[in-house]
Amino acid sequence: MTRPPADYRNEFSIFERCTYLNSCSLGALSRRSRARVNHYLDLWDARGASAWYDTWWAALDELRARYGRLLGAPRGSIALHPNVSSALGVVASALDHRTRPRVVVTSLDFPTIGYQWMAKERDGVEVVVLESPDGVGVPLEAFERAVDGRTSLIATSHVFFTSGAIQDVAALAGIAHRAGALLLVDGYQAAGQLPVDVQALDVDFYLGGGLKWLLGGTGVAFLHARPELLPSLAPSVTGWFAHREQFRFDSRALALHDDARRLEAGTPALMPVYAQLGGLDVLEEIGIPAIRAATAALAEDLIAGARARGLAPQVADRAEDRSAIVMLPAADPHADVRRLADAGLIVDARPGHVRVSPYFYNVPDDHRALLECLTDGR
Ligand SMILES: Cc1ncc(COP(=O)(O)O)c(C=O)c1O
Repeated sequence: MTRPPADYRNEFSIFERCTYLNSCSLGALSRRSRARVNHYLDLWDARGASAWYDTWWAALDELRARYGRLLGAPRGSIALHPNVSSALGVVASALDHRTRPRVVVTSLDFPTIGYQWMAKERDGVEVVVLESPDGVGVPLEAFERAVDGRTSLIATSHVFFTSGAIQDVAALAGIAHRAGALLLVDGYQAAGQLPVDVQALDVDFYLGGGLKWLLGGTGVAFLHARPELLPSLAPSVTGWFAHREQFRFDSRALALHDDARRLEAGTPALMPVYAQLGGLDVLEEIGIPAIRAATAALAEDLIAGARARGLAPQVADRAEDRSAIVMLPAADPHADVRRLADAGLIVDARPGHVRVSPYFYNVPDDHRALLECLTDGR
């Protein structure tokens, strides 16, 4: 018998202390993640480095494989990183921008996406930042116009952290590929709360990590690269985990893995890896389609409740283009967030908005409490 998603609320002890509605900043800590981390600490304590060879090494392989299954990715197409920025740095160092200097991003993307290529402007890279007409999304036509024969890459989000809007990634892949460019997608705000199939979406790179909807906390991220691209990717930012025989400790020659580990760098942080495995235990047990159904219903409940109280949430027009990031306009969002926190309601502030992000462990009563406190206190 599968349990309904809301049944998992007692997996997360934070709800004993407060009403947590901020999963798009940091997913709540599950009892399973805590148990996994404790297990890691016990191993470290009992066995020291001897746990590397038979246990921790396998945990890294397990995590690559489970991230891969979550994304519908072929075997061997996942690299681990401590965060998205470091993974992007490796990708940016592997692309040849000499004949195709242009990289297209949007003003709604998380800034670290564009920064990788802005940092290369002195090498001739040209970053084009597409503006959003409404603060919610960027029309496909704007990408069509910006992508040309000098474009190497579109680098943009699956779900915008600024508005929660879901982009049409398959259409973006078509635009990039018709021009001979590649598509890199920041899936940080998508993987976990939405089903993702990187093969159906036809992306070239897809990145994300544990922090938010994957319930893995800080310090663990993934990079999927299309397998056919791998042989041509020789990053200039690298490390010994990319070496195909790293335990030969060959200081004279760099021979990269054939699979996506060629895009890794140094020793992964094991505590976050264990925390992430615990988070995936929960997500896999519930199933991503059930999570999406529950979370979409919560988002709609929140939007309807906010409208009923005279607020005008800044979200995509169509429900199918919305995720569970709901932006509520606010004159002084930081003051609202502080006042809500004093009342035990945890949300976040972004410029001009209180940002609310329910997940499967929330219930509509959380929204009632939030909206009451938000509007009555103003
Ligand atoms: C869309 C998006 N991308 C990336 C990040 C984080 O990037 P990094 O892992 O480099 O800290 C965040 C939030 O922290 C985000 O919301």
